[in-house]
Amino acid sequence: MALLELKQLHKRFGGLHAVNDVSFRVEPGQIKAVIGPNGAGKTTLFNMISGTFPATSGSVFFQGKDLKGKKPFQVASLGMARTFQNIKMFNGMTALENVMVGRHVRSHAGFLASMFRMPWTWKEERDIREKSMELLALLEIEEHAHTDAVSLAFGQQRAVELARALALEPSLLLLDEPAAGLNIYETAEVGRLITKIRDLGITVLLVEHDMSLVMDISDEIVVLCFGEKIAEDVPATIQQDPEVIKIYLGEE
Ligand SMILES: Nc1ncnc2c1ncn2[C@@H]1O[C@H](COP(=O)(O)OP(=O)(O)O)[C@@H](O)[C@H]1O
Ligand SMILES: [Mg+2]
Repeated sequence: MALLELKQLHKRFGGLHAVNDVSFRVEPGQIKAVIGPNGAGKTTLFNMISGTFPATSGSVFFQGKDLKGKKPFQVASLGMARTFQNIKMFNGMTALENVMVGRHVRSHAGFLASMFRMPWTWKEERDIREKSMELLALLEIEEHAHTDAVSLAFGQQRAVELARALALEPSLLLLDEPAAGLNIYETAEVGRLITKIRDLGITVLLVEHDMSLVMDISDEIVVLCFGEKIAEDVPATIQQDPEVIKIYLGEE
């Protein structure tokens, strides 16, 4: 069974078909990428998968379950975590605290109880702190655990964001343009971290504008153009696809 399956997914904004009957599957253990020029419908596709807004028509199946009508927090608690195109760090919180927030979605006591430091949350709080430190170590930024997250370099904030998403213990991680705003060195680093996450057995679906990153790390690629899927294949084949080449050369 595919971990994620999109069937004829469609989103209309007024007269604009932002995503036009897109279908594909994401198999467990894959890094799958969705690419396409700006405005192709990539973020819109993610917003429908994660329950941010409903599809106009079509369906999303996750672990065989139809996600119709599910809110983002419900989708998240089924084991789907996401990061955003614009990095969202919580202001006035350290890197560690930012990751701990991600963990609280999974915790028994809940975020509010732990904020008010209810006695029954003390052990859980300690466990969350420990687990969050492990995730920062996994993403190789534990030395910045106690730094104010917004003061970190962009590449480091991306790593914190990835750790926060992993704190949810997802089986599927959705990444919206993980290389956006990063220089080429930071992009290569993020690529390596994403591969490391996949090697832990977590399936990754990423939307990305940066072709070189996508070609490096993806097992399969879906190409969107004006909302439509125009190609789906392994990177070597996508790179040779005349229509894909035309889109990207036409952009320059
Ligand atoms: N909330 C919205 N209302 C109206 N149009 C939107 C909305 N969100 C996106 N669009 C339009 O849908 C198209 C796809 O946008 P988007 O999914 O953000 O593309 P991408 O992420 O591939 O750059 C664009 O033409 C964009 O202007
Ligand atoms: Mg986008």
